[in-house]
Amino acid sequence: TERGTLKGEVTIVIEGMQNSKGGDVHMAEEKRYFYITTPIYYVNDSPHIGHAYTTIIADMLARYSRLVGYDTFFLTGTDEHGQKIADSAKARGKSPKEYADEISGKFKTLWDDFDISYDKFIRTTDENHKKGVQKAFKKMFDKGDIYKGNYEGNYCVGCETFFTDAQLNEDGVGCPDCGRATTVVKEESYFFKLSNYEDKLLELYKNNPDFILPRAKAKEIVNFVSGGLNDLSISRTSFDWGIKLPDNMDDKHIMYVWLDALMNYLTALGYGEDDKNMDFWPARVHLIGKDILRFHAVYWPAFLLAAKIKPPSRVFGHGWILSGEEKMSKSKGNILDPLEIIK
Ligand code: ME8
Ligand code: MG
Repeated sequence: TERGTLKGEVTIVIEGMQNSKGGDVHMAEEKRYFYITTPIYYVNDSPHIGHAYTTIIADMLARYSRLVGYDTFFLTGTDEHGQKIADSAKARGKSPKEYADEISGKFKTLWDDFDISYDKFIRTTDENHKKGVQKAFKKMFDKGDIYKGNYEGNYCVGCETFFTDAQLNEDGVGCPDCGRATTVVKEESYFFKLSNYEDKLLELYKNNPDFILPRAKAKEIVNFVSGGLNDLSISRTSFDWGIKLPDNMDDKHIMYVWLDALMNYLTALGYGEDDKNMDFWPARVHLIGKDILRFHAVYWPAFLLAAKIKPPSRVFGHGWILSGEEKMSKSKGNILDPLEIIK
């Protein structure tokens, strides 16, 4: 929202931004940071207009924030590890890295064609990202929030998500999020004590009513957390396309791709290396689609609390561009190519 008086002085008030006394922020009053992020997109296939939708909205907000004088950092990038990418590369007869380079390049070129004003394009295969993820894992481990066990349950490769039997579709095999068939996974795994964070998360939502927007979505998340949280499997052993655990502590294991991916919001600021841009943390807003709200509004703040880092200020989960009745999706292939639209 914007309010202006044009008598030689303009006051701009951005919703949610207040000074330490709870008053409106005047631009000259204090140095303010505005860190905005898009999801880092999977490199399983080429970008479509759904990805362009999020990135263009984020670009608009970043440009606005710069215009009104905020020190702004706008992050986008690609999510390159995990089973889905390994499988996609294999199906094309390529190595995961070779395939990730190709598709990551397509995303970057697309954003350059759209004149997206990102400050950094991160790739989860970047060396400093890997170091940062390992550092965070170690902090969570040292705090006692990670333990070794055995995972037995269902996995949706498309969503890179674990599900209990009770969570599956009525037919007992389908992913409750995307409807595709899940596979049964049974392997040694490290777990994150997500169950320890139920109360802390509910408190976070209660004290920060705008932490999750839109509000209707916030209610769904509160219900999900109130229903009880299971510990989360955060490593895999059945394939090796991912980040190893820190200090060679267990060579068989690679990190769960969502733990790896979420950490990008910190490693992009230099976390785990030189902390160069950590003044931008906490993020003002993680702009995402509603498909990945649970990861950002539940798992992500829990990981951060475990690593003793402040949660982001806001997570905004927008709606979907549909194709017919269904979400437009790389995995389903029902897409419109943004390059065609630019042309
Ligand atoms: O989920 N309509 O990556 P992803 C609107 N790598 N927005 C859409 C859309 C649609 N039909 N389809 C995609 C991942 N999007 C993870 C994220 S973040 C730490 C890791 C946009 O390639 C929307 O922003 O599946 C959605 O959340 C995102 O692309 C999912 O991209
Ligand atoms: Mg997706």
